Amino acid sequence: MNPTVLADTESLRSYPRGGPRAVVMTMGGLHRGHADLFDAARRLVGADGQSLATIFVNPLQFGPGEDLERYPRTFASDLEICAGHEVDAVFAPSVAEMYGEESPGMSTGITVDPGDLGAVWEGSVRPGHFRGVLTVVLKLLNLIQPDFAVFGEKDYQQLVLVRRMVQALNLPVEIVGVPTAREEDGLALSSRNVYLSSEDRSLAAAIPRALSAGQDEAATGATASEIVARTRFVLADAGVTPDYVVITDPDLVAAPPSGPARLLLAAHVGGVHLLDNAAMVLGEARTDTGR
Ligand code: PAF
Repeated sequence: MNPTVLADTESLRSYPRGGPRAVVMTMGGLHRGHADLFDAARRLVGADGQSLATIFVNPLQFGPGEDLERYPRTFASDLEICAGHEVDAVFAPSVAEMYGEESPGMSTGITVDPGDLGAVWEGSVRPGHFRGVLTVVLKLLNLIQPDFAVFGEKDYQQLVLVRRMVQALNLPVEIVGVPTAREEDGLALSSRNVYLSSEDRSLAAAIPRALSAGQDEAATGATASEIVARTRFVLADAGVTPDYVVITDPDLVAAPPSGPARLLLAAHVGGVHLLDNAAMVLGEARTDTGR
């Protein structure tokens, strides 16, 4: 069934509640990765609950010179994907609806400070990005009042920051992470992949290759710095220069000497900003690696 389209906060407020409610926040340009999030949302709320999506290209999270203007806007096909994955309603506000007639969020100057984690890795490549993300996520949570909000693990730093915000501000919502959907060669699905030329698309496959080389290295019991070195080597060998390659614990606190960890990396390929990450366990040499 086609989802109900809600274009303003008034119609969202008067949209009747029924059972548990889950939201998937998106900027449109929907693909199979978003469909996985919608499916997860439906599983969380059950047949009688409500699954909502938001489609809003949030200007506040784009820096000067970034791709705000050319970000894929594919509303008609986005709605078809929502319809195919049991989304009940789509909130698709205008910029003026979200931020007022003035420039985004700036009329009041009140935004969410993402703290120190907002300034490193993605935050250092894209200054101000996470302030914009957390501000719009908080606004959307307040407007939609969901029981669950579902986010992809591809934007891992974003997921952790949203969790931290929810905890720090005592927001009554459960944040649920969903594993990254991938192309056959491992490239993480992203709305930005459409910008890649066919040559750059082949180059971009070095990113998942580098992450799995890092995972292989971890499986030998290698240290965090050896894993980072191996990951960087695979990227360099393909001619891809990373913006960062880092290992942390799963909550992005500090690289543990042993136990669960996350390898995060980002790179510009043909001017397109791509990011990805992989889970691993440090300090345990597996015997089944075949090495
Ligand atoms: O991940 C995204 O698509 C965006 O950062 C989000 C969470 C929808 C906020 O604009």
